[in-house]
Amino acid sequence: MIENTPKLFIPGPTEVDDRVRLAMAQRVIGHRTKEMSELYGGIVEKIQKLLNTNHIVMVFTSSGTGVMEGAVRNLVNENVLHGACGAFGKRWYEISVYNGKNAELVWADWGRAVKPEMIAEKLEKGKHELVAVTHNETSTGVRNPTDDIAKLAHENDALIAIDAVSSLFGDLIDVNKYDVVITSTQKAFALPPGLAVAVISDAAMEKMKSVKNKGYYFNFEVMLKKFEKAKQHPTTPAVPLLYAMDEQLNIMLKEGMQARYERHVKMQKLVHDWVKKRGFDLFAEKGYESVTVTTVANTLGISVKELNDELVKRGLRISNGYGELKEKTFRIAHMGQLTPPDIMGLLDTIDEILEAKGVY
Ligand SMILES: Cc1ncc(COP(=O)(O)O)c(C=O)c1O
Repeated sequence: MIENTPKLFIPGPTEVDDRVRLAMAQRVIGHRTKEMSELYGGIVEKIQKLLNTNHIVMVFTSSGTGVMEGAVRNLVNENVLHGACGAFGKRWYEISVYNGKNAELVWADWGRAVKPEMIAEKLEKGKHELVAVTHNETSTGVRNPTDDIAKLAHENDALIAIDAVSSLFGDLIDVNKYDVVITSTQKAFALPPGLAVAVISDAAMEKMKSVKNKGYYFNFEVMLKKFEKAKQHPTTPAVPLLYAMDEQLNIMLKEGMQARYERHVKMQKLVHDWVKKRGFDLFAEKGYESVTVTTVANTLGISVKELNDELVKRGLRISNGYGELKEKTFRIAHMGQLTPPDIMGLLDTIDEILEAKGVY
């Protein structure tokens, strides 16, 4: 057993409720049984209810990247336009390239947002089949204006897919405006890693009929066929994680999506106020800050590594900057089951450490 692990304020995996952890200890069921149909059918209904949608919902045994690859393979024969402003947007573009698609990239610099006018410059009606954009860029703490980009894509006869891996179920997203919304469950969904969700429009399902070489594991048509027949998966899903998902959905339905969003906004505000009060800066472009994770510009030049080492000694963990931003920024996640008092406790502890070091 790994003991005394710190409480997680990192942008995934996030803290998991004890009830959810215990749900995974239930006896395993067969994946071709009535019990499984009830479990998975119920999960899909609960997700639809929480997101206020009739769009098709699929749960994959994979992390989010699998479904990002799936979106490209299911929806694109040739041309896809990517909007990116950080590590994960770039990754999605690379996924398209690796899959042999003709992928073009609209790049907003680190910390900046992808704006509709930037997409408009490259988007060609009749050419681009899909616009793929990150909703919440976890590396920089930027939330892109994807509603406006979705409108633009549809006006130009393209489908729109968003990577809401680190925002769905924390931030409020109207999934009905998109053709594919993707999330991983180890973030704002607050589950252990191992599952991913896709929310898919009828228009996307229609487009798939004309797309070749969609593969098998992430083939949305194969998934839907099995669901429609038996409310089951074509392959063996991670049963204990589905138990956990069902329990977490009960918790989220009880809280309600609006209240859940408001709790995330409260936590974001606490972190933003602290950042300004202590003389740090927000890394994200003003007006485009993420609701679920704050990337702090390390304007005071602290050692991020030392801070995190000290936090871990006190049972807490934040995240350093991503890749090139390792010491230039640090990230505080305020997502999932964390509460405003959790965030206040973390910020007090950071203050205690930095004051002792004479930073302020
Ligand atoms: C915005 C974003 N997209 C994609 C991913 C990749 O997700 P996964 O690790 O679940 O494959 C992450 C993971 O941190 C992410 O934050």
